[in-house]
Amino acid sequence: MRKKIVVGNWKMNNTVAESVTLATDVIGALGEGFSGCDVGLAPTYLALDAVGQLLEGSEVQLVAQNCHYENDGAFTGEVSARMINAIGCSYVIIGHSERRQYFGETNATVNLRIKKALSEGLKVILCVGETLAERESGVTETVISSQIREGLTGISHIGAIVIAYEPVWAIGTGKTASSSQAEEVHLFIRTLIGELYGEPAFRLVRIQYGGSVKPSNAAELFAMPNIDGGLIGGASLNADDFVAIVQAASV
Ligand code: 13P
Repeated sequence: MRKKIVVGNWKMNNTVAESVTLATDVIGALGEGFSGCDVGLAPTYLALDAVGQLLEGSEVQLVAQNCHYENDGAFTGEVSARMINAIGCSYVIIGHSERRQYFGETNATVNLRIKKALSEGLKVILCVGETLAERESGVTETVISSQIREGLTGISHIGAIVIAYEPVWAIGTGKTASSSQAEEVHLFIRTLIGELYGEPAFRLVRIQYGGSVKPSNAAELFAMPNIDGGLIGGASLNADDFVAIVQAASV
């Protein structure tokens, strides 16, 4: 039985003070010793330190939204996996579609970032997903297969990786993939991971769904056999909504 994992990706939202308030509210609403599913919060880099201090001693894990693939050096504006690890993160999100769309992220740079993150002892949430044009032209599986095969090239440590399926057309649009649409792709991803890494990985890899998850649709999505939790954007900015989604993953 896979334990579900729900992570709030706050994207470029909240000052440090606002992040502290939101994290405090989330921890308070979850209550002490919460263990229904794995929970993570991914504030901006600026707020990792303050939110990390709040999370100490709680079950909630600190997550970074990205990391660079070099340890240090002349990469203005970037933050390395070594720094992310030192600040107390346990997971880092890599290959989010917004990074791919706006910041030139490719499967090759995703691969470099994953390798570096793993070498620093971080766990990785690898995001994959097709655009609307790709879905409509029938290449969803081809796109996702390349994102996974190329993103994971040369990587053996699949146990440290969570996959997040986030159809680009469902992110921030209010259009959720139906639970059966999402389940179909999740099963495709699980089967591919099984081909690449064998039977235990087929059974154990966790695949989150992301894209307009809300308290009203979370339970139906999480009831699907191959949906192991969610990567939550907009709804994670409201503590009550986020915690309702976490509860839906904890039944
Ligand atoms: P929304 O939940 O706002 O659609 O965002 C999903 C997402 O991109 C999480 O990483």
